[in-house]
Amino acid sequence: MHREDFPMLKNDIIYLDNGATSLKPQCVIAKQVDYYENYSANAHRGDYDISYKVDMEYENTRDLVRDFIGAKRKEEIVFTSGTTDSMNLIVTGFFSNILEPGDEILLTKMEHASNIMPWFRIAGQTGAVIKYIPLDENYFVTLDNVKKSITPNTKVISLAEITNVIGDKRPIKEITEYAHERDIFVVVDGAQSVPHKKIDVSETDIDFLAFSAHKMLGPTGVGVLYAKYELMQNIEPVNLGGGMNESFDSPEKMVLKEVPTRFEAGTPNIAGVIGLGEAIRYLNKIGMNNIEKYEKNLRNYLIEKLVVIPHIDILNLEADSGIITFNVEGLFSEDVAYFLNKYGICVRAGNHCAKLTKDVLGVTNSIRVSLYFYNTESEIDSLVELLKDKDKIMKEML
Ligand code: ALA
Repeated sequence: MHREDFPMLKNDIIYLDNGATSLKPQCVIAKQVDYYENYSANAHRGDYDISYKVDMEYENTRDLVRDFIGAKRKEEIVFTSGTTDSMNLIVTGFFSNILEPGDEILLTKMEHASNIMPWFRIAGQTGAVIKYIPLDENYFVTLDNVKKSITPNTKVISLAEITNVIGDKRPIKEITEYAHERDIFVVVDGAQSVPHKKIDVSETDIDFLAFSAHKMLGPTGVGVLYAKYELMQNIEPVNLGGGMNESFDSPEKMVLKEVPTRFEAGTPNIAGVIGLGEAIRYLNKIGMNNIEKYEKNLRNYLIEKLVVIPHIDILNLEADSGIITFNVEGLFSEDVAYFLNKYGICVRAGNHCAKLTKDVLGVTNSIRVSLYFYNTESEIDSLVELLKDKDKIMKEML
């Protein structure tokens, strides 16, 4: 769908690495160029026309994000540099102040580094304990397993809505409902889900959500932290500096601005935020439900073709997102990716920044195809044609 909108697709490539980053449509590129060419003033500082225009565009994006994720107020939206930055702000700015020795942090071994490492550090600093929710035979999180993992000491559950290796959609609403009855916070890493399906933070009652612009057609270096308004008040800003303070006279007398401004110290990535706004307008026009449906069909198309190839081991046959992860029997994933690259096919190979998955999957490396709505059946056909011929792969991979 909509391939003509993506300049990168004019090149002779088959781009199947959308979990790493998505391509950008012309309108998003143009929106940023327009900022740099026509009104590249700073945000929230000037008293002249082009500066007002910056503020309007920047704050419009906040409104767009609010509506896109179903938040109640625009003050619940903070711009960060990406999912990683958002996760670190949640963990360092909020949880480091409330976790006590013996408190339990529930994760899974399928999480990305940015939803594990900040928790590791804070566990070390506070005496809190990391626990992992067991996964079912498909490596999925079930509500039952969440329930079994919760104890009176559980303080927070932090999960990707869709994981970046297995690509399963977690039952976030059910988890949140159960957790909140027990006063447990729920943090959601939305990096792989927000670009691909409708999310409604109010309906699912998520406490914190992190995601990145660059995986949803927007620029790199921009992300979002959503937090419920009342929780947002209790996040300690990690960065102090210009733009986020009302006044400062001495170490004892620092007055911060209201949320969310107090979390956006320094000059933000203005062009990036404005570009994110345009990406959201574009996604809204296509419709998130249409995107999800299209990717599901394309996934099924690929799976049908892969399952009949005897030397392909699919790791996530039962998942239902656009992430398909597999290995070619006996071959190192990065060698296969290198072979595909010779034919202009871009996939990701390796451990995908999720280094605990090996404990569960039993393999350290895999090949990941991650789809978006601009991928086509004919691209899948080209990929499958190459994967079918193991002798050719072995001959040409080095
Ligand atoms: N987190 C990104 C991925 O899964 C980079 O590829």
